[in-house]
Amino acid sequence: MSSGLEDLGRIRQSIKQHLREVEEGIEERRDPFALKQRVEEIRLSFLGKKGELTEKLRLIGQVEPALRPTLGSEINNIKEWLNSELERIGLRLRTLEKEAQFSRESLDLTLPGRSHPAGARHPVTQIFEEVENVFLQLGFDVAEGPEVETDHYNFEALNIPKHHPARDLQDTFYLGRELLLRTHTSPVQIHVMKKHRPPLRIIAPGAVYRHDYDVSHSPMFHQVEGLMVDCDVSMAELKGVLDHFAKQIFGYSVKLRFRPHYFPFTEPSAEVDVSCILCNGRGCKVCSKTGWLEIAGCGMVHPAVFESVGYDPDQYTGFAFGFGIERIAMILFGIDDIRLLFGGDLRFLKQFRH
Ligand code: DAH
Repeated sequence: MSSGLEDLGRIRQSIKQHLREVEEGIEERRDPFALKQRVEEIRLSFLGKKGELTEKLRLIGQVEPALRPTLGSEINNIKEWLNSELERIGLRLRTLEKEAQFSRESLDLTLPGRSHPAGARHPVTQIFEEVENVFLQLGFDVAEGPEVETDHYNFEALNIPKHHPARDLQDTFYLGRELLLRTHTSPVQIHVMKKHRPPLRIIAPGAVYRHDYDVSHSPMFHQVEGLMVDCDVSMAELKGVLDHFAKQIFGYSVKLRFRPHYFPFTEPSAEVDVSCILCNGRGCKVCSKTGWLEIAGCGMVHPAVFESVGYDPDQYTGFAFGFGIERIAMILFGIDDIRLLFGGDLRFLKQFRH
């Protein structure tokens, strides 16, 4: 059995070697986390339960008694020295860690700030709100109805008989024999009249759906329905309301024109044109040289519609109208393809920031 003192010399050298490697790592600014792990490994391999120095101390009984005190105190010296070295390196590591953290989190105050672009309302929403305001000021309420409708509400109660072209599968998205996506906001008239008695004055804005897709048709678009019912509502009032509406939206200089038309749910019926706001009625590309832009359908509520909701057609009269919101947005903003409104392209939408 050797004295063990040569062994201690070797252990001291090996510790020095390990610690030097860690210190080099610190100087080279290697990952402080990995270096810390390495330090812990070193500690365990010499001072841990099965560490070399611990082992040496345990086996000291096997050494010649005379040598034990020298050996014991030498082992303890090394242990003390190693502990203080580990502590010193630990401090250096903590500094390195802090430096790494600071450089990760450092702020370059010369960088330009991050901008937080403000959102804006969609042009269709903007027109909706303008339109609603006009009618709210006239005393109309805002009503809503479901987008999934029954055949009865969307067609039958509105006096649209079976086999009417408006029911054509080409236009209507059917969800079954009885259910469909509403093709217009007119069924809200029926919901409102079934729930309330006259006098009533409502508009019903909302999404509608048709099987159609080109520059002027989108499978989903928006309409605003209007309905006023009382004992003696006249067509003159209808004209007055729509004239006021058009002037509020398009400007005071526009003229209105009512052309006789056919709708199953109104009699008489008319289509409404405004004088072209681009050429002032002189005729241009947008109005196809006619000087007029069609904006709405309207008429006096058909007696058959009153009957379908249990109103006495001899007691009440009313007017109704309906128009497309996208069409109005397109005229006002000069948009020539309705699909742009639903493409979600921010370069397009940013032009209408209000
Ligand atoms: N519902 C019609 C459509 O979608 C628009 C319409 C026309 C509504 C005349 C009305 C009206 O209330 O009286 O084409």
